[in-house]
Amino acid sequence: MPAIMVLGAQWGDEGKGKATDLLASTTDSIDYVVRTSGGHNAGHTIVVNGEKFATHLLPSGILTPGATCVIGNGVVVSPEALFRELDALIARGVEPAPLVVSANAHVIASYHSTIDKVTERFLGNNKIGTTGRGIGPAYADKVNRLGIRIADLFDEKILAAKVEGALDARNQLLTKVYNRRAIEPEQVVEELLSYADRLRPMVADTSLLLNRALDEGKTVLFEGAQATMLDVDHGTYPFVTSSNPVAGGVCVGAGVGPTRIDRVIGVIKAYTTRVGSGPFPTELFDEDGEKLWRVGGEVGVSTGRDRRCGWYDAVVARYATRVNGLTDLFLTKLDVLSGWDRIPVCVAYEIDGVRHDEMPMTQTEFHHAKPIYEYLEGWGEDISGCRTVAELPAAAQAYVTALEEMSGTRIWAVGVGPGREQTVVVHND
Ligand code: GDP
Ligand code: IMO
Ligand code: MG
Repeated sequence: MPAIMVLGAQWGDEGKGKATDLLASTTDSIDYVVRTSGGHNAGHTIVVNGEKFATHLLPSGILTPGATCVIGNGVVVSPEALFRELDALIARGVEPAPLVVSANAHVIASYHSTIDKVTERFLGNNKIGTTGRGIGPAYADKVNRLGIRIADLFDEKILAAKVEGALDARNQLLTKVYNRRAIEPEQVVEELLSYADRLRPMVADTSLLLNRALDEGKTVLFEGAQATMLDVDHGTYPFVTSSNPVAGGVCVGAGVGPTRIDRVIGVIKAYTTRVGSGPFPTELFDEDGEKLWRVGGEVGVSTGRDRRCGWYDAVVARYATRVNGLTDLFLTKLDVLSGWDRIPVCVAYEIDGVRHDEMPMTQTEFHHAKPIYEYLEGWGEDISGCRTVAELPAAAQAYVTALEEMSGTRIWAVGVGPGREQTVVVHND
């Protein structure tokens, strides 16, 4: 299986870190683990031998012996966050895997996060609930053709000219609209140059690197960040992130063509969570929601915010299957559902009196969507020790089978706990 994508099928935090780590540790040899979109807004948790690690900008493969990690051209890179994360791992006694960064990746400088936070404050009740990491402003600069790229850090003259150009417009906005102090270009240049020497040996043409690796039959794992419903095109716009976390975006963000991809795994929780603002049809405001939050430990890895919780939404699963061309689902956190007599699963929406089996065409309709539930039998047993399908209670097996049928993709594996080994593989191929 030379090229595998691991993508979020809901609103993020599905367990992509665990899925990546699992594949990296069980597949014969994973040569590369690649991030292709987003930045340090991601928070991916890996639990190895009971020890917990969280990665943000770094691919989860940073902990996998023998793997090389790649940050692709589609990622927005804060050099400050990059080295902070690397140094924190080193301080914990981890020897990080080798890291290669695309020369074409865009840079997040401190002014991007300043603008992110100021914009959110300005939006008031309409705020997106961003992570405040400068992701949106950095991608805005990229499409505005005002961005700074990693390669620019190695040419002081070009860097100074580009920073000046970028801040020209931004400073007008900061001072005249938001009533803030202007940002000095010289300070930004100095800050970015301070990372150049350490960064230089890591920088390469990562598209060339990855395509050559695939030509040689090496195994490349693309670790998605964010998720389908947070995609700027396919998600719940405007309550989305500013990149394309879907499968097509992975190709763009890596410089690898779609014909090279062998397997597209969608990671999906056995229920649903969301952080930040925006519509969420199956959201719960009752004690069931509180129980999912508590048992599932649903607190954000990057920002520490509580995640909103609700039941599984098969409409979202079918949508994710379609827009990503999923070949498999990895169903996580089934263990959290132990202890309910019956478990509601959303199979369709009712919107203004009309049943919708597929995602409605407009956001206005989606805002009005009310879930239509089917009720599946629950189970009482703790399943966190199960390692085979046969060990799962019959009702849990039936829940997995029902979700597989409703979602339109086979469930390759099921997570029954945060640990790498707490996994039930349903299909071995
Ligand atoms: P990511 O952003 O998609 O990598 O997911 P996060 O790491 O933000 O959130 C997923 C959380 O669920 C983490 O705390 C994981 O350790 C945990 N997790 C992943 N899979 C399972 C599972 O099968 N069962 C349980 N109980 N926890 C899991
Ligand atoms: P992982 O990779 C969950 C959400 C934010 C906000 C919106 C926009 O861990 O699944 P941004 O800072 O990206 O401009 O914020 O997107 N968001 C995530 N939610 N998991 C993530 O990443 C997220 N990354 C961004 O909460 O609603
Ligand atoms: Mg996360």
